[in-house]
Amino acid sequence: MTKDREAIVVEDASAIAETAAMRVLARLEQAEARAAVCLTGGTSPEGLYRLLAEEPWRHRVPWERVHWFMGDDRFVPQSDALSNMGMARRLFLDPVKAPRHNIHPIDTTTHDPEEAARLYAGDLQKFYGGERLDPARPLFDIVLMGLGSDGHTASLFPSSRALQEQDRWVLGIGKSGMEPFVPRVTLTFPALASSREMLFLVDGAGKRDILRRVMGGEDLPAARAYTNGTLVWLIDRAAAPEGCRA
Ligand code: 6PG
Repeated sequence: MTKDREAIVVEDASAIAETAAMRVLARLEQAEARAAVCLTGGTSPEGLYRLLAEEPWRHRVPWERVHWFMGDDRFVPQSDALSNMGMARRLFLDPVKAPRHNIHPIDTTTHDPEEAARLYAGDLQKFYGGERLDPARPLFDIVLMGLGSDGHTASLFPSSRALQEQDRWVLGIGKSGMEPFVPRVTLTFPALASSREMLFLVDGAGKRDILRRVMGGEDLPAARAYTNGTLVWLIDRAAAPEGCRA
């Protein structure tokens, strides 16, 4: 397990999208048969998602053998503008006609987020072929992550009990710590850690202060995230705190 992070600082948000696309592609190429990508929500991955639907990336992604999961989602219908999977579908999965059975949304038509969490854990475990995560056999080839201005990542908010979870893969989060204030469903740290690479995408001056706190070792959810594989923070110049340079 590593918490040793590599920081890559690039010029701007479009360089983040390009660099992230290259890293995703490299992981997909390394995967022998099927590959699994855990997507993130928010605005930070939008540039990457748009890029994946455009040439030359579109033809380089082996769509038939890539499975797309979501690290967290808001408990709203996929057609809602707040839905993370809805956004990923609009920006790239639908335009490229990614195979339906390769898209794994968190089911938000369930009674409540808890039930959605149980179902999603079942979906992940079926895909993985077991209920225990083996560090030698990661669940995901790459996990994308974002950083909230309060230091949350996925839907793991500061001071929430979800941060302590060691056994379950997915949790229902009744109360969001930040807007949009809708219930959420989130993967836990151990599930996200079962990855060959965890890639944080952070851009814009608005993220600079929280990034400085994360890099400074403050106990925030994003700073607690870890992986079995390589942990990379991809940051643009506007977000990079003093002293964090390429
Ligand atoms: C969500 C996200 C969340 C996000 C951060 C950063 O559903 O809200 O998955 O963890 O990544 O809040 O969001 P921005 O990219 O919009 O700044």
